[in-house]
This record gives sequence, structure tokens and C-alpha cells, in this order.
Amino acid sequence: MKIAIMGYGTIGSGVAKVLTENHKLVKKNVGEELDIKYILDLRDFPEDPHRDKIVNDIDAIINDPEVRIVVETMGGLHPAFEFVKRCLEAGKSVTTSNKALVADYGVELQEIARKNHAGFMCEASVGGGIPILRVLDTCLTADLIEEISGIVNGTTNYMLTEMEKNGTDFETVLKDAQNKGYAEKDPTADIEGFDAARKIAILTSIVSHHNVDFNEIPVEGITGISVRDIGYAKKMNMAIKLIANATRENGSYSLRVAPYMIKNDNPLYSVNGAFNAIFVKGNMLGDSMYYGSGAGSIPTASAVCADIIALAKKIDEPEYEFYWDSNNLKLADPGKTKCRFFVRADTTKTTKNEAENMFPDAEFRESIYDNEISFITGKYQDEEILNRLNRLKGVIQKIRIKE
Ligand code: HSE
Repeated sequence: MKIAIMGYGTIGSGVAKVLTENHKLVKKNVGEELDIKYILDLRDFPEDPHRDKIVNDIDAIINDPEVRIVVETMGGLHPAFEFVKRCLEAGKSVTTSNKALVADYGVELQEIARKNHAGFMCEASVGGGIPILRVLDTCLTADLIEEISGIVNGTTNYMLTEMEKNGTDFETVLKDAQNKGYAEKDPTADIEGFDAARKIAILTSIVSHHNVDFNEIPVEGITGISVRDIGYAKKMNMAIKLIANATRENGSYSLRVAPYMIKNDNPLYSVNGAFNAIFVKGNMLGDSMYYGSGAGSIPTASAVCADIIALAKKIDEPEYEFYWDSNNLKLADPGKTKCRFFVRADTTKTTKNEAENMFPDAEFRESIYDNEISFITGKYQDEEILNRLNRLKGVIQKIRIKE
């Protein structure tokens, strides 16, 4: 079995490493030798043990009938989409770790795969090394999934954990995350929550079997979260986490990505650093949680390689796991879900009385900074809470509380 890797960066080189180090095990699990024949990249890697496999032209892969499986680890949308499409049209099975590609073009690529009798898999696109797609697609199929709540972005979880542990401010932590290779040079997709939105869209597509357009998901990132907010959370035995949530409502799902305060009895509370965890509630199983390395070269490569093995075993009769149709799922309105909020307000601009008048059900908390009041509201729908907060002067912060 000959394979090719497109993109020899962090994950692509991890795939080569896993296949080399676990060569014997992979051979046993596939039932035959599995060799990397080509690695597509524009760069040269003169010191690399696989340097003789580097090609710069996709045609080398497309035109070689010996190559049956192609790994896409280039990232980005273009030319990843065009390259994957061409591989599938040539009858080659593909696995990708690229969540942007899966969220934007997953349904189209699945159709092309079917038409060409090729396989298409994407386990590593959500949760890195955590096999969450398989869990939802094959293990929990007797359950109606009532909720998925995930910490699915390692970069932001690392940043929030560092802010909590060391009291370091957002900008310094971001620079540190960039230096350590967690955050990209342009960190927008991570810190603004778009990466998490793509991932929850993929997970919800799998459980609903319909396409979820991530552009329809209300997204709030962590750029507005300060060390002070985290200090308040700590004092209340809570943590602030960027949560990607899908909750079953009215026969559909309501989706949201936002920073939430979560209590210390929530299983997601202890998920720290660059780790990911996905909490899943099934109507039969009840609560379950899947935890592990959500990013990084080798953990992500582990999931990609499991896909390679699955594709290799069914190379002549591909199975269509991770499949959803092209009908867009009509999402339930998340703004209708009632939620409690943690609020901070500036007492030079408002008084406790004014806050109490606006939120008669508010539970006030001990203030840890001068000239501030803080409280937890009752449960409100989005429109109602925004309306009240707009009328209250001096609001510094509002953060959702996860029940
Ligand atoms: N930027 C992503 C994260 C990489 O931090 O989780 C893995 O998808």
C-alpha cells in the first residue's frame, strides 16, 4: 500500500514519524506493508530521512496509480480543496486534518469521494488526537445526542489557563503562546473563536447527518477576557473556558461558541493547558467525556494514521463514516436559550441600587477591586439581558455561566 502526504509541516512530518516508528504495528493492522511514496511540499528538507520522497508537483501523486491513499496536512482552503478534489477524482482515498477544509467543503468532498468510489476521512479535524468523530459516528449511534460541549481549541485553553495560573495579561500570554508554537502568527481564528465554531459545526453535522454552516453560529472569542474576570471566577470556585456548545432543541440544535464561567463540579473545569475535552450527553448513555491532546504534531498525526489504516483496510470497498448530507441543518435560535450572566459594573457610573432595580434577581458577589460591583443575574434570553445591560450604566463585563 503506497501513500502520499501533501504538506510536510507540523502534522505531515508527524504522520511520517508515526508511520516510521510504529511501522510494524501499522503493517500488522493494515495486513500489508504501508509505505510513504511521495511527500508534496514546496520546500526541500535536505536533513530529513524522507527527503528523497519530496515532490513539488501534485501531478506526481495524481498520475501514480500505485498511490491509493493521500494525506492532506497542508492546512488552509486553497489549494488544499483543489488538491483533495483531484486526488478523489483520481480514485484515491483521502484523510485530512484540516478543519477549515472539512467545515467549508466537507459535504462536497464526501460526495466526490462517493462518486469516485474513494474514501474520505477527517478524524483529526476536531480534537486533534481524541477520536471524537468515531465516538459520535459509530459508538453513540443508539443515543439521541442532547448536548455536546467542548473545549476544542488548545491555544485559547492554554492562554486562559496561564492567565489563571500566573495572573499574566492577555497580550503577554498570547505572545508566549506564539513563541511556544501554540498560537499562529495570525491568531485570529483561535482567539476569536472561529476555529472552535468550525469544530462544533463538524461535530453537529455528524450527529445530525445534515450540513451545519459554521457561519450561522454566534461566536465570541476570548479577547475580551481579562485577568480580573478570571480572578472573580476563581473566587466563586469557577473557571473561564472557551466552550463550543451544541444543545438539542426543538428537533434541531442550537449552537454557540463563547467564553463561559463554569463551576468546579463541571467535568470541563479541570481541562487545562493545551488539552481538549468534549463532553457528550446522550439520552441513553447520559454524560460522557473524551479528553486528550487536541493539537500538536504527534497526537494529531496519531488520528490521521488511524484514518490511513481504516482507509487501507477497506481500500476496495470504502465505508462512508463521518458522512452528512448537503441539506443545511436549520439551527435552533441560541438567543432563546435562557442563561445566567456574571456582570461587573463601575460604581463611579452606577450604584448597587440601580443594578438591583435592573436585575431584581441579582446575587451580588464580594467585590475584589475598588469601584466595582459584581453580580450574577437570573436567567435571561439574549435580547432581554442585552436590553437591561444597555440601560445599566458602567457595565464593564458580562460573561455567560454554564449550568
Ligand atoms: N489552532 C488549533 C488549536 C489547532 O489551538 O486547537 C488544532 O486544531
